[in-house]
Amino acid sequence: MNKKPVLVYGRLTDDQLAALSRDFELTRFSGTDLANDPAFHEALKDAHGLVGGASLSVTSELLNMAPKLEAIASISVGVDNYPIDELTRRGILLCNTPDVLTETTADTGFLLIMATARRAVELAEFIKRGDWKTSINEAQFGSDVHGKTLGMVGFGRIGAAIARRGALGFGMKILYSNASPKPELETELGAERRELDALLAEADFVCVTVPLTEDTEKLIGAREFSLMKPSAIFVNIARGKVVDEPALIAALKNGEIRAAGLDVFEQEPLPKDSPLPHMNNVVALPHIGSATTETRNAMAQRAVDNITLALKGQRPINLVNEDAWRNT
Ligand code: DGY
Repeated sequence: MNKKPVLVYGRLTDDQLAALSRDFELTRFSGTDLANDPAFHEALKDAHGLVGGASLSVTSELLNMAPKLEAIASISVGVDNYPIDELTRRGILLCNTPDVLTETTADTGFLLIMATARRAVELAEFIKRGDWKTSINEAQFGSDVHGKTLGMVGFGRIGAAIARRGALGFGMKILYSNASPKPELETELGAERRELDALLAEADFVCVTVPLTEDTEKLIGAREFSLMKPSAIFVNIARGKVVDEPALIAALKNGEIRAAGLDVFEQEPLPKDSPLPHMNNVVALPHIGSATTETRNAMAQRAVDNITLALKGQRPINLVNEDAWRNT
């Protein structure tokens, strides 16, 4: 029997590739501009499955080139780069990789909280420049993390895992704003639900973990920054587009907030002329939320399992568009 063609454009281990190729006919792509790659377009004609990360935006144009496509296994939890309703209409299953990256991504969130509060990157640069000539003084002091108020904007799995670190490890008071209440986390962590504006005004650290959707695009802009304390530290490990980036830059420059820890940006890779990585009160990371060897391997394995199940007609472990499955 002919094997179904599957296009792989994300990182899989050799073992994962070998396992997948036992069941499917694999073609691998590694270019950075896949959306405009004629070889990719050609391969889409016969593809039954796609396995790749969040860097490729799967557009209607690409879907039109792939009439046989049955399933996409994204190596990411975020699915903002897929037209979900359209995939559902076309009966194409969309799978993602939640759970396996929760703790690693929460570690990154807390890394940004700590690094911004204690000015770790700025002061490491201070030593590198040879500026450490006497004992450090007030000009280099940071601010405490323990005992402060952590405001979580979004309180899903990753938000809860960051809050758990804050509450249980650092004695922080947890506030959250979320579409639905989370009574079990209120009990576990003493978390208190607030309207977004109230949370922004009260929190010492504002940490964004909401998914990017039409409703959350530019959720945090000039008005929201103006509500924050001048001593507030803003952390974004969700998606860059949740924030109005020029407004963030202005708030950091004008002292409306003290600092920002950013793992995600409006445009990625971050354009060379962005001022953000050059600002002393910013810790900027290149979207490393889940980027450890263990976790990326686990995400890749989940994507392999999802595509294998989907293309064999079985329910994948993580299905984003349930309706597409119901209609199969
Ligand atoms: C995710 O899994 O969504 C990460 O942000 C990588 O894109």
